[in-house]
Amino acid sequence: MSLYQATASAPVNIACIKYWGKRDTKLILPTNSSLSVTLDQDHLRSTTTSRADPSFTKDRLWLNGKEDEIKDGGRLATCIAEMKRMRKELEDKSPNEPKLSSYNVHICSHNNFPTAAGLASSASGFAALVKSLATLYALPASPSELSLIARQGSGSACRSLMGGFVAWEQGTSPNGSDSLAIQVAPREHWEDIHALICVVSDDKKGTSSTSGMQRTVETSPLIQHRIRNVVPQRMRDISEAIQKKDFDTFARITMQDSNQFHAVCLDTDPPIFYMNDVSRTIIALVVEYNRVSVEAGGKLKAAYTFDAGPNAVIYAPKENIREIVEMIVNYFPQADPFKDPFGLFGTTGVQGGVVS
Ligand code: DP6
Repeated sequence: MSLYQATASAPVNIACIKYWGKRDTKLILPTNSSLSVTLDQDHLRSTTTSRADPSFTKDRLWLNGKEDEIKDGGRLATCIAEMKRMRKELEDKSPNEPKLSSYNVHICSHNNFPTAAGLASSASGFAALVKSLATLYALPASPSELSLIARQGSGSACRSLMGGFVAWEQGTSPNGSDSLAIQVAPREHWEDIHALICVVSDDKKGTSSTSGMQRTVETSPLIQHRIRNVVPQRMRDISEAIQKKDFDTFARITMQDSNQFHAVCLDTDPPIFYMNDVSRTIIALVVEYNRVSVEAGGKLKAAYTFDAGPNAVIYAPKENIREIVEMIVNYFPQADPFKDPFGLFGTTGVQGGVVS
């Protein structure tokens, strides 16, 4: 008897233009386009194995060794059903294919980074799940086509199906058929840019992205301004900066967009606070580091960005990473990224790590 099993991995991505707000909560259609950098495969990633077998009595999923319920009509169930639907289409066209779409699946997923670190794992998790099922089902789908499904697991997951610099185009179709991820540039296009992950707190965040962004859409007047007047231009400008490898513009837009995202959180009723005092100190350090460079006639040397939590991600050209790590360790001596490394985007030498 054949064994139908496949394994796939997907990395975490960190947005420079933030996705925050849905126009359709079931299909997960965003109120604005977004753009992120996918971290290197060998650092923060989820790895997922899927198996289809006629003896399985129901679909089941284990996350880091613990079984998770697959709720009817929930996001996991939707993704699995969509993948089975695609497999069924293939079987209908090729009658010799085994009828895997009629088997239940067992799915087992692991993160290679501490889940307790407060780093978003849903993006890499849903991307790896969709990839492993696509491999199991031998689907001839492109990463952009698969992004349509990963998006329905968690919006930001659609951007983890590709490496490098990835845009999630919000699309206009009510059924979401054009709300997908496209690669703006592959990783090799701009290898010099690295990301340093500073884990400020490993607490579980108070307000989840899903409920926080919904509350923002319902109550914040500022989000309307962001959607209409700010993000479209930023998407064009940052894409151009990536094409030109213009770090100065890339950094400026990344920091502005992180700031505006946290501003719309504050504009939400009741307000949402994701950053803490350590986060704000890291902002001050990066601002000062850039100011010294600019005043000496140079350019921006680093860009901070914060998601729905206090942890900082700092993008910088590789040559600046060691200096940035030293600067952070100087202010937060308890941080020893060289002893406890796990958050590095890049290939050699410097380790990103824990600031607590
Ligand atoms: C702040 O993708 O986690 O990280 O679609 O409800 O699952 P859901 O939300 P999610 O939100 C991510 C928000 C963000 C910004 C970003 O990644 O673009």
